[in-house]
Amino acid sequence: MGRHKHGRFMHAIVARDQLSPNVTRLVLEASRIAEIRRPGQFVIVRLGEGAERIPLTIADADPAAGTISLIIQAIGVSTMDLVALEPGDAIRDVAGPLGRATDLIDHGHAVCVGGGVGTAVVYPIAQELHRRGVAVTSVIGGRSREWVILEDELRTAGDVVVCTDDGSYGRHGFVTDALKDLCEAGGVDEIFAVGPVPMMRAVSELTRPYGIRTTVSLNAIMVDGTGMCGGCRVSVDGETRYACVDGPEFDGHTVDFKSLADRLTTYKAFEQQTLARREACLIPGLAQHADSSAAAPDPGAASPAEGVAR
Ligand code: NAD
Ligand code: FES
Repeated sequence: MGRHKHGRFMHAIVARDQLSPNVTRLVLEASRIAEIRRPGQFVIVRLGEGAERIPLTIADADPAAGTISLIIQAIGVSTMDLVALEPGDAIRDVAGPLGRATDLIDHGHAVCVGGGVGTAVVYPIAQELHRRGVAVTSVIGGRSREWVILEDELRTAGDVVVCTDDGSYGRHGFVTDALKDLCEAGGVDEIFAVGPVPMMRAVSELTRPYGIRTTVSLNAIMVDGTGMCGGCRVSVDGETRYACVDGPEFDGHTVDFKSLADRLTTYKAFEQQTLARREACLIPGLAQHADSSAAAPDPGAASPAEGVAR
């Protein structure tokens, strides 16, 4: 579907809900993508002309309604603008589906590990595994109860173990604590893990001695999403790979998580400055100063700092 607004094709928001204090789900019109997307794939959205490109995993799709769901963590200026959208508003560009689809097993027992907003990435994987007849256990974690997302949705695909860092809900501890018990019990054929880099690294180290194939989704900084800019390069098995076209999923046992973590900090200072300018704009009297100091280059070429948004 999609609508024309001011003479241009736009992707209208049809629903919005808040999943945790800083995680929002937007359902938007993108009929072609809804038809052909597969688990593991993502889109790059641009809210308006010249806006930053934001890579976001396609968390769900409804081909009949012609919609896709995007789950967004508001961590910077561009993602804050996205989550401020309401039904009836529209996004200018939604490019995709991008990336390789998840390489899924057809039988056995899979464990899907979601850390915080990374749970949005494992959700479509769990759904498809369940549809194929694979037994699915999802292990999802949040800092506390209010940060746990998609528990009900994942229960439709199998068992769910919820963990919270502070013990306010479910099992007390990190997702890795619950995963260790499952590995010890045996019978796990494959693990999919998505979340913060330290979590994916910890999961990969945990599963290595058990010899269980472990797939992680790398939230590298992305710009074009088509293998042209090199922004998303990651080191896998000693070789440079591009998360946008070779991934975003890779064998966690071969990923250089340290170099990924280092690259993710590249634009942190820039993003903090941009946020500070935005806040200054909201303080009466400081707006003029903020405008003049915001001698930012072309915003379209602005920092891809939110390549970590997925
Ligand atoms: P968070 O920091 O609140 O952590 C979520 C859960 O992950 C924790 O509750 C815990 O169970 C687990 N965890 C965190 N650190 C761990 C560690 N060292 N060892 C074992 N388990 C650990 O997560 P959040 O704030 O929702 O997510 C923030 C980060 O996740 C962002 O930096 C974002 O870029 C990243 N992220 C990555 C992807 C991806 O595709 N890989 C997708 C979404 C988000
Ligand atoms: Fe540019 Fe991957 S995002 S090469």
